[in-house]
Amino acid sequence: MPEADTTKKAKQYHENTPQETPGFFLKGAGQLDWGMKNRLSRIFNPETGKTVMLAIDHGYFQGPTTGLERIDLNIVPLMPYADAIMLTRGILRTVVPSTLNKPIVMRSSGGPSILKELSNEHLTVDIEDAIRMNVAAITLQVFVGGEYESRSIRNMTRLVDMGLRYGIPTLAVTAVGKEMVRDAKYFRLACRMCAELGAQMVKTYYVPEGFETITASCPVPIVMAGGKKLPELEALTMAYNAIQGGASGVDMGRNIFQSDAPRAMITAVRKVVHENMKPKDALDLFYALKNKKDL
Ligand code: R5P
Repeated sequence: MPEADTTKKAKQYHENTPQETPGFFLKGAGQLDWGMKNRLSRIFNPETGKTVMLAIDHGYFQGPTTGLERIDLNIVPLMPYADAIMLTRGILRTVVPSTLNKPIVMRSSGGPSILKELSNEHLTVDIEDAIRMNVAAITLQVFVGGEYESRSIRNMTRLVDMGLRYGIPTLAVTAVGKEMVRDAKYFRLACRMCAELGAQMVKTYYVPEGFETITASCPVPIVMAGGKKLPELEALTMAYNAIQGGASGVDMGRNIFQSDAPRAMITAVRKVVHENMKPKDALDLFYALKNKKDL
């Protein structure tokens, strides 16, 4: 049994030396099969290497979340502005037009509601159904440090194995409990575990201290999770800092669909992610678009 990493020697993350990406534009993906690379190229823009994913899967454990009460009315019109959509199969089949030409990242775990222990999840979608829905990726929560940590890891490795069979990449989402510390040390652990155990992408939270050590020590692309609604400038700044800190994109929900002007907000986020626009300039763009009222 190896000992825990207790050495006093300082860790070397080499944050300023990006991992090489031979054969493909995304880190860690150069040796994947054609189908997997093709799906990843639909999610991440090959020209910028980044993605703006819109997360609208909240209902799978918390019901009709504010802003998602009527996805047909409020969210479907937003979808053309996103690079990829993260959602459940129930919403996909009931309200999303099959003419939508956007890559789908399919929520494939669930079980407990907000009334119960959230880490007690199972897989909720068969790979055959994911294929039937023509998804670009499959995704689930991983609860490192949670009560059902081991089960959620097992869920992930099963999903990864199923995805590998058919060339569908898995996005592992590092879930955090209310009482858990959200710091770089924790997210380094969680993200690295997900990558080591096979996830081709990891979604994790931004932390102001040491975010670049999380991205540097994770050999696959990291997308930043949005989290609770913040004032627009704070959300844009967080996205900007995450991208500058090595994230390959964002997967934002509430900070987009709970904004007063969701289309203006996602357009501003796109500028930050794909064009490195500074947060203040992106905020000015947000207000300009919001005032035009057509966004
Ligand atoms: C993670 O718990 C789920 O995928 C959420 O539905 C999603 O990550 C939430 O997005 P946001 O925190 O940006 O609203």
